[in-house]
Amino acid sequence: MRNLEDSRILVIGGAGFVGSHIVDQLLAEPVREIVVLDNFVRGTRANLSEAAKDKRVRIVEGSITDRTLLAELMQGTEYVFHLAALWLFECVYQPRSALEVNVVGTFNVVEAAHQAGVKKIVYSSSASVYGDAVFTPMTEDHPFNNRTMYGATKIAGEQFFRAFNEQHKLDYAGLRYMNIYGPRMDYKGTYVSVIMKVLDRIDAGQAPVIFGDGSQSYDFIHVADVARANILALKADASDEFFNVGMGVKTTINELVKMLLEITGSDLQPEYRPQEQMFVTHRVGSTEKADQQLGFRARVPLEEGLHSVVEWRQQDQTNKLDRSTVMG
Ligand SMILES: NC(=O)c1ccc[n+]([C@@H]2O[C@H](COP(=O)([O-])OP(=O)(O)OC[C@H]3O[C@@H](n4cnc5c(N)ncnc54)[C@H](O)[C@@H]3O)[C@@H](O)[C@H]2O)c1
Repeated sequence: MRNLEDSRILVIGGAGFVGSHIVDQLLAEPVREIVVLDNFVRGTRANLSEAAKDKRVRIVEGSITDRTLLAELMQGTEYVFHLAALWLFECVYQPRSALEVNVVGTFNVVEAAHQAGVKKIVYSSSASVYGDAVFTPMTEDHPFNNRTMYGATKIAGEQFFRAFNEQHKLDYAGLRYMNIYGPRMDYKGTYVSVIMKVLDRIDAGQAPVIFGDGSQSYDFIHVADVARANILALKADASDEFFNVGMGVKTTINELVKMLLEITGSDLQPEYRPQEQMFVTHRVGSTEKADQQLGFRARVPLEEGLHSVVEWRQQDQTNKLDRSTVMG
């Protein structure tokens, strides 16, 4: 088990959804300094507004495509979390940007960490590497059945870590997240999750739309659990390993929409429409390896977690409304 005492930690992509929760949880650790590197293409300063009150937090605006900056920030850094990436749909429509950020950017991070003698990195991979499940629950040795550009970039990233561990003994753990949800998840951008699309419709008094028959199932995990998994993975002795990070519970879109309708007290009925472009339709991960080697087990039940999303979203919308009223 690693001791984070007096260490300097770099959180790359730390202004984003998951990264900002990692920063929050790191503040409870006896660390010396937390440096956030983010270019704010998706993350926000608001996500770090509470954390930034702590003097140990420093925010640097910049990109993982900037090798000089990475080399500078890695100097004197003991531990790194690497979360910066373009998303599934961005990778569909801008494959070259995905290559530059997710693949070359990740290589830059791995190389700079090795050159600076970083003790361990935790890499945010994705369950997307598995593609559609060949068997469930998917264990970490499930084949790379991926057929997306996003998954391809995550597989490339994983392989860089593996190669640098083999060649240079760079310690790392890679986390393959299932579907993450929770406070601070994006609800305004072009690429928002099904949870937010359903809540948008409910807010507008319109029937939530389900594409297909709603039997598609996913493994939803709360962001607080994901942040905790990251810190456990950093502290653990395990290295050169990949871990699923999920609840290990299958939830269908029908069940999800029903829960959201109940939580919001809506009596709307879902509207079914023909299936549009789909990437993965059935996914649930085995949680055994993370439990055994990291001591990680998700704690937040879906219903409780969805409540936290609905409450946070309402609060966030109110705050934004207040700000725009004040500004006239
Ligand atoms: N949210 C999920 O359900 C999920 C599932 C599987 C995997 N992941 C992976 O987990 C990681 C974190 O996901 P998230 O949901 O917090 O996403 P996010 O987009 O909120 O966070 C990523 C952060 O990286 C930053 N970033 C992007 N390009 C950058 C660059 N070139 N240089 C520096 N910073 C850059 C963004 O501004 C953002 O703040 C990502 O790597 C993502 O691919 C997420």
